[in-house]
Amino acid sequence: MIDLTVNGSAVSLDVGVDTPVLWVLRDHLGLMGTKFGCGAGLCGACTIHLDGVATRSCILPIAAVAGRQLTTIEGLSESADHPLQRAWVEHNVPQCGYCQSGQLMSAAALLSENKQPSETEIDQAMSGNICRCGTYPRIKRAIQQVAVGHYDPQDGGQS
Ligand code: FES
Ligand code: FES
Repeated sequence: MIDLTVNGSAVSLDVGVDTPVLWVLRDHLGLMGTKFGCGAGLCGACTIHLDGVATRSCILPIAAVAGRQLTTIEGLSESADHPLQRAWVEHNVPQCGYCQSGQLMSAAALLSENKQPSETEIDQAMSGNICRCGTYPRIKRAIQQVAVGHYDPQDGGQS
């Protein structure tokens, strides 16, 4: 059995040690928000947080996360009201939407360690997340709006 914490809940899993975390999330835990894109760590569609750090779940064996904390898009906020999620809605960021949970998880990891990233820092942090629909300008605008506090109620932004 492998024990870990997923979105704040303790789980015990009886799976092969080499099973990719992405398969465990989707097939064993029913958390379908994390997407399969390339399966090779290249596109970012499967991005989750491992102990708060943006991580590709498609190439991560479950044995490597024993005892650690995973967060998926389902656990990013309680009511899909993370500032980035609100900004994503207001800026109509998604097109087909397939890449967007990975985009949001990468953006959330960036802002958790750097609340006011420069444009270059945003580009660097988001460079591993591919969007076939080309939503990059809207993604960047949404991140920048969150970074300046536009979605922070404490700063007088939108609630
Ligand atoms: S599916 Fe994991 S990086 Fe593409
Ligand atoms: S919104 Fe379609 S792949 Fe990004």
